[in-house]
Amino acid sequence: MNTKQVQLDDLQRKILADKVCPELAKQATQLVFGTGNSQAQIVSIGEAPGKNEDIKGEPFVGEAGKFLNEMLEMMGKKRADVYITNIVKYRPTENRDPLPEEKSAFLPYLEKQLDISAPKLIVTLGRHSMDVLLPGLIIGSVHGKVQQYKSSKLLPFYHPAAAMYNRSLKQVLIEDFLTLQILLETI
Ligand code: URA
Repeated sequence: MNTKQVQLDDLQRKILADKVCPELAKQATQLVFGTGNSQAQIVSIGEAPGKNEDIKGEPFVGEAGKFLNEMLEMMGKKRADVYITNIVKYRPTENRDPLPEEKSAFLPYLEKQLDISAPKLIVTLGRHSMDVLLPGLIIGSVHGKVQQYKSSKLLPFYHPAAAMYNRSLKQVLIEDFLTLQILLETI
């Protein structure tokens, strides 16, 4: 196993040992830490697990995940080529938005996860993950525009779940994925 994966496994155990968000943990089936290639150039970050993710223990395996897979395939990538995670790592009840205190509680672990992965590019999916890493940006203005987060480039995207059933937003997301494809050729 590669060193990054070993460190990520340690971090996953630390979240459990530190008892992060015990109330959220109590009602969730399991911790949903992250999946994919720990050595990947791209790390995608969503919001929090939903029902399917909670059951499977893997981020983005439901409808939004299928859509994300399609977007990746469109640019010639597979899920296994990227690393996928969320800010909040337990499913919030009834798919509500994660609370500010839940995002803050998980932020140090997400930061550590990114320090370990050290990707060339971070893709935030939706405003929540963008906002924890780069507070104050407006998704409507900055989506698909390259930002900087520590030593990684960061591309903010709309959330696939929001774009799935909204034709114009879907088109925007497709165009942003094409921007990502071009960017990957230059970094
Ligand atoms: N939406 C997210 O933000 N994350 C998931 O893992 C699934 C759906």
